[in-house]
Amino acid sequence: MDLIEHARAVRENAHAPYSKFKVGAAIKTASGAVFSGCNVENVAYPEGTCAEAGAIAAMCAAGEYEIAEIAVIADSPTPIPPCGGCRQKIAEFANAAVPVTLGTIAGETQVTSVSALLPGAFDASHMA
Ligand code: THU
Repeated sequence: MDLIEHARAVRENAHAPYSKFKVGAAIKTASGAVFSGCNVENVAYPEGTCAEAGAIAAMCAAGEYEIAEIAVIADSPTPIPPCGGCRQKIAEFANAAVPVTLGTIAGETQVTSVSALLPGAFDASHMA
């Protein structure tokens, strides 16, 4: 199954009663394992978490820390770009060339990369 289809499936479980905007994300690691996440909103709005954050948390909980590929999907008119915070979160676990597939429920996809989404990322080298 394509990674975007995993993202599409997990999106069904999103808890988005406030925005009504369901998002799904799926990560493949070098081992071939797939980890999925959906957005989970909270009545205290800032406490909500994005789909990408959920997928990253699932990956880490399984003891994996290296994203080989990531896909994000939503019912948006154009392929959904990850929010700024999620770009930073993804960059923590992915090298610059890692492909990021952005999709719509209608079936449009766009493939970009971590470095295209977050050029000049702040990373641990800046803390040396
Ligand atoms: N959202 C994500 O899950 N990922 C993104 O990259 C963009 C935004 C969620 C957060 C919130 O639950 C809803 O979409 C509307 O912003």
